[in-house]
Amino acid sequence: MDARDKYRPSLSATKALDIVKKLYGLSGSLNELPSYHDQNFHLVTDAGDEFVLKITSESEKRDTLEFQNSAMHHLASQSDSTISPRVLKTITEEEITQIETDEGLFHFVRVVTYLPGCVMSSVNPQSPEFLIDFGRFIGSISESLNDFDHPASHREFYWDLQRTRSTIGQFKKHISDPEKQKLVEYFVNLYETLIVPRMDELRTSVIHNDANDNNVIINNPHNNSERSFGILDFGDVIYSHTINELAIAIAYALLDKTDPIGIAQKIISGYHSVFPISELELEMLFPLICARLAMSVSVSAYQQKLEPENEYLIISEKPAWALLSHLIDVHPRYATYCFREAAGLEPCPDSMKVTKWLKKNAGNLSSPIGVPLTSTNCNVVDLSVGSTDVASPHHLANHQVFGDLISEKLDAAGVTIGIGRYNEPRLIYSGDQYLTDESRTIHLAIDILVESGSPVFSVYDGVVHSFQDNAKPLDNGPTIVIEHHTTPSGPPFFILYSHLSRDSLEGLAVGKAVKKNEQIGTVGVYPENGGWPPHLHFQLIVDMMDQKGDLYGVAPQSKRNVWLSICPNPNLILQIPETIFPEPEMTKKEILELRWKHIGRPIGVSYRSPLKLARGFMQYLYDENGRQYLDVRNNVPQVGHSNPRIVRALNQQASVLNTSTRYLHANLVKYAQRLCSKLPEELSVCFFVNSGSEANELALRLARTHTKQKDLIAIDGAYHGNTSELVNISSYKHDGPGGEGVPSHVQIVRTPDPYRGEFKGPGAGKKYAADVFEATQRIKEQGRGVAAFICEPLLGCGGQILFSDGYLKEAFKHVRKDKGVCIVDEVQAGFGRMGTHFWGFETQDVVPDIVTMGKPIGNGHPIGAVVTTPEIAASFTTGMEFFSTTGGNTVSCAVGMAVLDVIETEQLQQNALTVGRYLVDRLSKLQNEFEIIGDVRGIGLFIGVELVRDRKTLEPAEDQTRYVVERMKELGVLVSFDGPYNNVLKIKPPLVFTEANADTFVDTLARVLSEDPASIGF
Ligand SMILES: Cc1ncc(COP(=O)(O)O)c(C=O)c1O
Repeated sequence: MDARDKYRPSLSATKALDIVKKLYGLSGSLNELPSYHDQNFHLVTDAGDEFVLKITSESEKRDTLEFQNSAMHHLASQSDSTISPRVLKTITEEEITQIETDEGLFHFVRVVTYLPGCVMSSVNPQSPEFLIDFGRFIGSISESLNDFDHPASHREFYWDLQRTRSTIGQFKKHISDPEKQKLVEYFVNLYETLIVPRMDELRTSVIHNDANDNNVIINNPHNNSERSFGILDFGDVIYSHTINELAIAIAYALLDKTDPIGIAQKIISGYHSVFPISELELEMLFPLICARLAMSVSVSAYQQKLEPENEYLIISEKPAWALLSHLIDVHPRYATYCFREAAGLEPCPDSMKVTKWLKKNAGNLSSPIGVPLTSTNCNVVDLSVGSTDVASPHHLANHQVFGDLISEKLDAAGVTIGIGRYNEPRLIYSGDQYLTDESRTIHLAIDILVESGSPVFSVYDGVVHSFQDNAKPLDNGPTIVIEHHTTPSGPPFFILYSHLSRDSLEGLAVGKAVKKNEQIGTVGVYPENGGWPPHLHFQLIVDMMDQKGDLYGVAPQSKRNVWLSICPNPNLILQIPETIFPEPEMTKKEILELRWKHIGRPIGVSYRSPLKLARGFMQYLYDENGRQYLDVRNNVPQVGHSNPRIVRALNQQASVLNTSTRYLHANLVKYAQRLCSKLPEELSVCFFVNSGSEANELALRLARTHTKQKDLIAIDGAYHGNTSELVNISSYKHDGPGGEGVPSHVQIVRTPDPYRGEFKGPGAGKKYAADVFEATQRIKEQGRGVAAFICEPLLGCGGQILFSDGYLKEAFKHVRKDKGVCIVDEVQAGFGRMGTHFWGFETQDVVPDIVTMGKPIGNGHPIGAVVTTPEIAASFTTGMEFFSTTGGNTVSCAVGMAVLDVIETEQLQQNALTVGRYLVDRLSKLQNEFEIIGDVRGIGLFIGVELVRDRKTLEPAEDQTRYVVERMKELGVLVSFDGPYNNVLKIKPPLVFTEANADTFVDTLARVLSEDPASIGF
């Protein structure tokens, strides 16, 4: 072991202050910094300048320190930023001096400039952009040091990755746990077999050699355009293999992270863009990363024995062990393929050779089912995420249903063979083995859907590579892998035949020769084939990566290109005519381009990186690649996205009759009867339209005809719809961007907001309602009368605001005194969402004169309704017909009734109450943990979380709110924000939301709120 540990400096702060005063003429205050070798102090001078005082043990060589200084100068001179510290000279113009300690040791003293910023290990989260930038930074160090050298750089040092064998050999014995020792031995062996033989071919240069996440300093870590990096502690700088710089940087960046390979890919792509990595270096990278981690835990075991109290020594120990345990399961070639992808290369290099050979030799290969697959005997069965043949993600879980679907599709097409597509994202993989951190959804083979017992033939001469019964439910079942050769010097390829009969494996032997067209088995029957309808899974594989009898047949989206390279399209062999494959789906980019061209610009798209959705089911949405999102924002699919009962009602009625209200049909009156039964007795006459806006527009007409007045009163912050007059009464719109303010016939009254408003506590409702009284007076003063007061029963777009107690009761009194009509807009709040009541107005103990409905009324089917009293309806009977072409059509009424049925029979109002209470309770507890949560409010599943920078001033935390919404989406949870200050999280999920969903939401929110942009800013 290096002698430095024994002589590690341990000066007092007072002594250190004396030194800087005497040698540098500086005075100020000092703080000791954590350090591995040297003793370091952060010095803030009286003038406010910041430096680091570095005391190095006398056991270090002076020329090594000169080398370090020189490397710092070199890096700093390459850039005018604060990429690395600069060395300060003493009063006597020296960069290195020596002092004598009380113990008689002669330690070296240097002072370097202090790099402001935070250390990388504290940056949370480390976004993909951050990691790419970090890679670029490390690349810039490599580039900069590439033309630098120093005589002292060619030294022996135990942290040099070139010395992995000897360093680990020396320290490994201090690891007390034999399992951990074995882990380290595995990675040493990897180093021996993969690195050592090719070491001499690697590029060399001076490297910093310790870009660990406590040595990297960052400014503006979360600002993609202003982020900057710097590097500290040149104590390990050395002449070594250039690629070691990146390996070390990656090794530490992976600690405590999920998907380490994905993170390494980001860093590599950044590094490669600045300082290109050779193919050989890419191949060496994974074993080098692991070697560094193995070295670190070995040295750490020794260090801990020496200094059990030194916390810095154990700082990276635990996560490093966890990471090594994870990486032992990653095949080194798989890691290399991922790294190659990150560098823009074909991930699996042999893939191109195999593909080329297959293209040339396709005619020499035969069909695995004995007959060629042609446009007349086969047809594609669409199993994609958005397949309209599949009713829900769980639809095909039953193999009988799945089998029936296949037969139905084949019969309809008049063919006998079904084809399941390669590279198709699917939701049918529900076994645990597919549901890892990131679900696996991308199919890597072609399925040939034929009857069980059908013979399966080898497509070419080869040998049995391996076979196995992968008997886990919904796995590959009995599987045979045949190895084939291309050219004598070319790479082999493999065909994996799975879901075979168990008999197929009998009598097989590894290495057994098989001939082209020789029968190797039969298509298996359910359930021995793995639990699927009979089919042959035909997968072309370029590298089995030492696996036997099995390989991923379905890949995670994030590694899709890597897996598609390892498993190229088997149609190179099958030669199914392209004409039978449907056109590829439009990409996000194509859709966006057409939107720009053909869709009005004000029609916005959510999220910075918009979502392309392919399926919805109950409280979940799925993107085109099968990623599941929890929908916490959408109150339109009240009883769940594509709820099968609603879909059935719609289909059934649409397939029989869909016509307007001009003809007699029971659906219209039955539905009206059902809706009225949910309302107070006096609200008994319905008008059906197609949207919330239409409903509100009609409500205004009713009120105006009834009162013969025009003036309207509405609440500040409210939104009532998109027509001209509704924008006039919606301050959410007319006071917002592009708005033209409030017209003279509209009075806007203050929001009765118990959190942010002027009045609080008992009596606040009455005080706010006085605004309504004053509005009626203003109208009167102008010689007119009030037609209507229109309000939501609680504000949605206005910020999920529950009104102060007694507000509506008092407001209605004032309006009715002046013979105005009271309209309640239930477009957001109605249909059981309140939990305690079916309608929002019931929570304020009032009965409106007109109620308008929309959104949840049709669970996404466009329905709007207005329900009023016989008196108001009578006033509207002027002789002019009211007609809405599709309002109240037979299908809409069937859907509306089905929605009511589901809410009632599945007790969704009760569910809204219990889950809503649970969620509010958990959110309130979260409020105790996070200062930024100013207010949690809600009733049932209508909940708002208001984020503020300061709980006293209530300064809105708008940027943080946007961050939370975007970040939650990245983590698979969809929530929206709104309110006049854009700082309220709107929580209004489908009413099928469960307590487990509430937990997911709160846990994800807690995670995001503890990230830097939400907690300490950007
Ligand atoms: C309270 C309220 N009323 C009316 C509307 C308008 O409904 P639609 O978009 O169906 O026209 C909305 C829509 O967001 C709303 O939230």
